[in-house]
Amino acid sequence: MVTRWIPDDAVKLLAEAGDVVVSPADRPLAPDELHEFVSGASAVVGMLHDRLDGALADAAGPGLKVVANVAVGYDNVDVPALAARGIVVTNTPGVLTDATADLAFGLLLAVTRRLGEGERLLRSRTPWSFHLGFLLGSGLQGKTLGIVGYGQIGRAVAKRAEAFGMEIVHSGRSGRGSVSFEELLARSDVVSLHCPLTPETRHLIDAAALRAMKPSAYLVNTTRGPVVDEAALADALEAGEIAGAALDVFEKEPEVEPRLLGRDDVVLSPHLGSATIETRTGMAVLAARNVVEVLGGRAPLTEVKP
Ligand code: DGY
Repeated sequence: MVTRWIPDDAVKLLAEAGDVVVSPADRPLAPDELHEFVSGASAVVGMLHDRLDGALADAAGPGLKVVANVAVGYDNVDVPALAARGIVVTNTPGVLTDATADLAFGLLLAVTRRLGEGERLLRSRTPWSFHLGFLLGSGLQGKTLGIVGYGQIGRAVAKRAEAFGMEIVHSGRSGRGSVSFEELLARSDVVSLHCPLTPETRHLIDAAALRAMKPSAYLVNTTRGPVVDEAALADALEAGEIAGAALDVFEKEPEVEPRLLGRDDVVLSPHLGSATIETRTGMAVLAARNVVEVLGGRAPLTEVKP
């Protein structure tokens, strides 16, 4: 049972293992619809907007062997509850690293160079002419990028930032550039978030963290919305505590804190981190491979352990 559209390559692969049913609804299923949909499933291929938990497993019934989340993040999955029922859980790491790092860097450029503002100005047909003080942004060369969450995606962002002449500090436990979270906030000209959403990272960027950043600094979030307290972010921007923010993910996705929507110093994109044809196909195919392996009695390629 596949809870939402996936690319054909992945459907074909799944069909090698059994009958494939893809939800025809072009929207997230409500919990009761989702539970009804998965009834009798051997495998569930789910999306980050689905709650994949013990209730879902119970609704599927005793034949459920594998839950494949088509995302690297798995905060929507109750891994211990599924593992306790003997169900294998998988995610899709690796295949989306570059696409997500590219998007994070695109957002970083968009917010520091005021691209959204420039676009809106032209589209609103506002009169303008080139002058030396017009829509000035902030250069990156010699500036410091603070990377919170120094895993595969964080490192890929660091590689891009180095090519732009930025210094890197990160929250990784060791290695060049490793600093405390407090030092990272105080030193960075841009803070980019790449940690998973866990109980420890929920609202990691709260009012105090935002106050600890430089007034000239920018925040970029391409991980999960709840890592940032969006109301506190709106307060901080209103108070001039930071210079701007670029967000691809939202606390109550798909809703966006209304005060952020009207701000020119905020760049917004609708969870597009992995949204390239190649990457989304790679993610779905990896999820499908995991299902085929588990249903074939073999170990999956990318298992999530409790
Ligand atoms: C993920 O994989 O966790 C992203 O948020 C969606 O690609």
